Amino acid sequence: MVVDDNPANLKVLEDMLRQRGHEVRSFPRGRLALTAAMRNPPDLILLDINMPDMNGYEVCAHLKSSEEISSIPVIFLSALDETEDKVKAFCSGAADYISKPFQFEEVYSRVETHLKLHALQLALKQQNEHLEELVDQRTRRLQVALKHIESTYDEILSVLGGALDLRDNETAGHSQRVTRYSSEIAKAMGCGEEERKQIAYGAFLHDIGKIGISDAILHKPGKLTPEETEIMRQHVRMGYDLVSQISFLVGAAQIVLTHQEFYDGTGYPQGLIGKEIPLGARIFSVADTLDAMTSDRPYRNALPFQTARQELVRWSGRQFDSDVVQAFLSIPEQVWMRAGSSTNSVLAHMSFISSLLDSESRQLELTTPAFIDGSAEVVRLGANLKALDHRSATPTATPLASSAETKM
Ligand SMILES: [Fe+2]
Repeated sequence: MVVDDNPANLKVLEDMLRQRGHEVRSFPRGRLALTAAMRNPPDLILLDINMPDMNGYEVCAHLKSSEEISSIPVIFLSALDETEDKVKAFCSGAADYISKPFQFEEVYSRVETHLKLHALQLALKQQNEHLEELVDQRTRRLQVALKHIESTYDEILSVLGGALDLRDNETAGHSQRVTRYSSEIAKAMGCGEEERKQIAYGAFLHDIGKIGISDAILHKPGKLTPEETEIMRQHVRMGYDLVSQISFLVGAAQIVLTHQEFYDGTGYPQGLIGKEIPLGARIFSVADTLDAMTSDRPYRNALPFQTARQELVRWSGRQFDSDVVQAFLSIPEQVWMRAGSSTNSVLAHMSFISSLLDSESRQLELTTPAFIDGSAEVVRLGANLKALDHRSATPTATPLASSAETKM
């Protein structure tokens, strides 16, 4: 496109460009040229500056402000040859500036150069768009694959949880509740998403090793003998051996192994002390004790939440990490009541942890009353829980670890 209010200039440029094989449209007015360029964008514009209705600077500035045609190269052709005129032209978006009177060879060389450059820019733009589209496609495929992997994780957890339920049918509600409790505490302690996920997996599977304990010991109604206790204690190692073979559960396996360790070093299997115990296991310990105390037992009803709370505070810094207890105390009671609600079905394992972690609002929509499920896994209670029966509000001075309820 050539734009010049001087008919002689217009004719010369038009003829010479046509001779070199270009299609040329000529306009004597800036406004007319602008309208035509909007309607049918040219590959390049040769533009005069001084014209009656709209000068070259204004035409160029309008072109550059429109996204569809802003990439068209504009070469100014003008009798104005002061530096400030040229600077003004480039500021308005010019690709080049040729002073009049011009030599046609120079005009032609510059036109050819800018046409090539423009074609390259267009090709590059198309290539980028193609690459962006490819990246989008791959990202979408990756998201589908990740969803599939996550659902596979849920299925693995479902199978493992279901296997334990078959051996120990009171454990389902317990596992889900301690998973919720542990997740709440981990969140309050500022754990990241991946860490919370591993803590949730570990809490959910903490007693998976009980699959390997015989019924005679697992379901023995009375107190275990020292030999039986020793066998029962092997469930943490058996659970670890089982879970640590699954790559996405490597972090959780550490919690399975150490979930019976106590902060003061009196737990098992390694007698770890303080921060030697993985954070997830220290969190689990508080969650597990809370659930044990607020669940019904064959010989007593569930203890009130406030009693459990007092016991956790009483054993803070001894059986429990005081930082974890502080995090527990910072969470409102209604959160615990909601988190304590649970279904007791094997199928409820499915997607349980994913939904728990996906729900940032933590609006658990289960409506069964809190703390009603029993649990076969009795953790080491601080006080003698029989003495802590809800009929007696007086806590005892007996350490949680020596509870007569302890079956581990
Ligand atoms: Fe256990």
